[in-house]
Amino acid sequence: MRSLGIWSPKGGVGKTTLALNLAACAYDRGMKVILCDLDPQLSAVDVFNDKQLPFTVLKGQPSITPHADLIIYDLPPRTDVDIIGDTILIPMRASVLDIRAVNKSIRHVLHKRIIKCVNAVDVRRQDERLLAMRLYSEGALLIKDRSIYSRAISMGKTVFNTDVYGASEARTEIKRLLDKIENPTSPTNPSR
Ligand SMILES: Nc1ncnc2c1ncn2[C@@H]1O[C@H](COP(=O)(O)OP(=O)(O)OP(=O)(O)O)[C@@H](O)[C@H]1O
Ligand SMILES: [Mg+2]
Repeated sequence: MRSLGIWSPKGGVGKTTLALNLAACAYDRGMKVILCDLDPQLSAVDVFNDKQLPFTVLKGQPSITPHADLIIYDLPPRTDVDIIGDTILIPMRASVLDIRAVNKSIRHVLHKRIIKCVNAVDVRRQDERLLAMRLYSEGALLIKDRSIYSRAISMGKTVFNTDVYGASEARTEIKRLLDKIENPTSPTNPSR
C-alpha cells in the first residue's frame, strides 16, 4: 500500500483539486483508493457528498488503516500538523512567494519522498511560464490552469467522470502526475 500526503504551507494552491483528481485517476486504473480529508474545511468531503465520485472520501484519519492500494491525505496548509504519507506532493503556484514559502517550511518533510507540482500554470503569462519551466528543470511536475478542474468540482465530479467533456488534456497531465507518484523513475514531460 502506498500513501500520499498532499500538503503545502500555502492555502488555495490546489491540494483538494489534485487530491480528488489523483484519486479518480487511480480508481480508473483499477486501484482501490481512499481519500482522507484531514483539512477542517472538509472540501473533499463536500464534493463526495454530491454523490458523483466512484471512490470513498473519509472525514479525518481512520483509527484503523483501511485496506487500499493507495491512501491519499488531503492535508491542511499548516506546519503544526502531522504531515502524513510516505510520499508528499507539494502543490504550489508559479509564484516567487509560493516558492519562498515552500522553501521555508520544507524541513518539516525532508525525511520523506517529496514531489513538487506547479499547479494552475497560466502559460499565457511569460513570468509564470519561465518560473514553471525553471521548477520543471529542477524536477517539479506541471499542471496547467484549466477551467475544467473547477467546473468538474462544481458538479461534484473530477475530470475523470466520463460525462465531463473537454477534459482529455487534463486527464493526461493528472495521469502523468500519478505515474510519477507510483514510479519515481517515470519521465516527467512538461505539460504542453
Ligand atoms: N489546475 C487548475 N486550474 C484551474 N483552477 C484550479 C486548478 N487547481 C485548482 N484550481 C482552483 O483553485 C482554487 C483552489 O483550489 P483548491 O481548493 O483545490 O486548493 P487548496 O489548496 O485545497 O485550498 P485550501 O488551502 O483552502 O484547502 C479552486 O477554485 C480550484 O477550482
Ligand atoms: Mg483544500
